[in-house]
Amino acid sequence: MSLDRTLEQGFIRVTEMAAIASAQTMGLGQSHRSDQVAVEAMRTEMDNLPMDGRIVIGEGERDEAPMLYVGEPVGADKGKGGLGVDIAVDPLEGTNLCATGAPGAITVLAAAERGGLLHAPDIYMEKIMVGPTAKGSIHLDAPVAENLRNIADAFQRDVDDLTVVVLNRERHAQLIADIRSAGARIRLIEDGDLSGAISAAVRGTGIHAVMGIGGAPEGVLSAAALRCLGGEIQARFTPLNDAQRKRLDEEGVAEADRIYTTEELAPGNEILFSATGVTDGELLRGVRPFRNGTRCSTLFMSLSRGIIRFVDTIHREDVTTPVHFR
Ligand code: FBP
Repeated sequence: MSLDRTLEQGFIRVTEMAAIASAQTMGLGQSHRSDQVAVEAMRTEMDNLPMDGRIVIGEGERDEAPMLYVGEPVGADKGKGGLGVDIAVDPLEGTNLCATGAPGAITVLAAAERGGLLHAPDIYMEKIMVGPTAKGSIHLDAPVAENLRNIADAFQRDVDDLTVVVLNRERHAQLIADIRSAGARIRLIEDGDLSGAISAAVRGTGIHAVMGIGGAPEGVLSAAALRCLGGEIQARFTPLNDAQRKRLDEEGVAEADRIYTTEELAPGNEILFSATGVTDGELLRGVRPFRNGTRCSTLFMSLSRGIIRFVDTIHREDVTTPVHFR
């Protein structure tokens, strides 16, 4: 039974329902609530799917997250030995973006056959991410200026015609200074380096690379997306304090000081990826409610089938009344 064909529609629905739920909280200034409703919607939908699923990246450890915790069995066939699927989720990537109505919040799910996604602990990772054009021209340990020169060569343009996405954080002061002195342009974002990675892998978005330290779970999800899009990530676990160092040691699945490649972060052969826009973004429009329904846009990708599908769905609340959508 193919994981892909069985679960495509279901996974799209999972991220759509999470997006619709969190979009109802857009701009309320309650990031925790926005996340919580996305988690609940995702969890509910997942249990309708014909799979023996297991969360490998989720909302945290069992004792800190009641739903979608790491190791949680999900799916209608959980524990019954049906279609075995490993699942990584970010029910709301950019909780603050949703809470403030800022662009770029998405709901995300990646899945693969068992063992197809690295069980990364929820600590930080230093990352460099590019799309297919610049694949093979980066190295995490190369000086920033050298990486930018190589990326520019791959795009057959000058460094000052590149735009690099960087999370707007104190820890990136040196990185930002290095990018500026190399001459490239920077798009500072408040949240969402995973959305940045997807944008970098699609021509026409005007984004050529993402650099800096962000969440390791987002690193694995980025790797899943970049495998489907033909891009590249190099990343290294970067514990920023003793608690994170301890977590990395205890988990025992991930090594510090090692550069992980795209294939090491997401080694699966049957990777699926679904992301739905919550607020408007570069590639995906946000959820648009209307009188008796909701419209949302989703990016669904399948590695094994080579599919990159943009899905535009209208969910009608009441099928007996006419639909008024734009
Ligand atoms: P959310 O928890 O709101 O989804 O934050 C997402 C994010 O901005 C990621 O895109 C990024 O990798 C990470 O958080 C950065 O972490 P921090 O905010 O601690 O710098």
